[in-house]
Amino acid sequence: MAFLDKHKIIERNATLLLVLSFLVVTIGGLVQIVPLFYLQNTIETVEGMRPYTPLELQGRQIYIREGCYVCHSQMIRPMRDEVERYGHYSLAAESMYDHPFQWGSKRTGPDLARVGGKYSDGWHVDHLTNPQAVVPESVMPKYGYLKETALEPGYITDLMAANRLVGVPYTDDDMTNAAADFTAQADPNADGTGLADRYGRVTMSNFDGQAELTEMDALIAYLQVLGTMVDFSTFTPDASR
Ligand code: HEC
Repeated sequence: MAFLDKHKIIERNATLLLVLSFLVVTIGGLVQIVPLFYLQNTIETVEGMRPYTPLELQGRQIYIREGCYVCHSQMIRPMRDEVERYGHYSLAAESMYDHPFQWGSKRTGPDLARVGGKYSDGWHVDHLTNPQAVVPESVMPKYGYLKETALEPGYITDLMAANRLVGVPYTDDDMTNAAADFTAQADPNADGTGLADRYGRVTMSNFDGQAELTEMDALIAYLQVLGTMVDFSTFTPDASR
């Protein structure tokens, strides 16, 4: 066939094959990538999403440092078994301030995307200190030392600056008050108006139950906010997208 004869020319000429293959791949790539530049936004904006407070952000660092992600994912997939077990499937917007995101795929333990508010602070202290005391068959390691590690706002402004650099909208006001907000959140008797002005709905609590501010406070502050920012009793997905 004449067509196949012509194709033989390409097959026998490595350089021509390379040039033509490159052309095909380029067109395919452009078709996928170019439209993204003309969309206003690839993530729909969802009411309720706010950047992490300084204490939550610090807790998130501890979560990453301790490798919790090695056993826990933070993404509920839109499949019936997952939604029935963990709650509403995760929205892209819910990790818009996560750098790096913690989606993961390894689930030695349960998904934690909506663990916020599921248990009391006290439960988390007991569980993190000795998981087997709460769930006898648990293979989760003990993290009791977090309660003994005092925490200072030390480098929180730098941490927020790094997040701001990659697009988290922390304001100058947030930065100036970072250290004060950091300690205020773990003190239920502190004046919370500043925190509320800057971040909106924030849970203030003595998370670890001790007078001293520790890494345990920060980690629990983070766990308790996971999946709670969007109100799913009123949320409706935008069908126009
Ligand atoms: C070696 C794997 C492993 C690591 C590492 C690990 N976990 Fe777990 N985690 C588990 C398992 C298994 C369970 C389920 C049994 C239980 O509740 O202890 C669990 C349960 C949990 C739960 C309860 C979830 C629910 O919905 O009932 C929380 C919260 C939790 N882990 C937080 C953490 C945090 C925070 C870290 C890091 C400091 C961490 N885990 C590290 C394995 C792990």
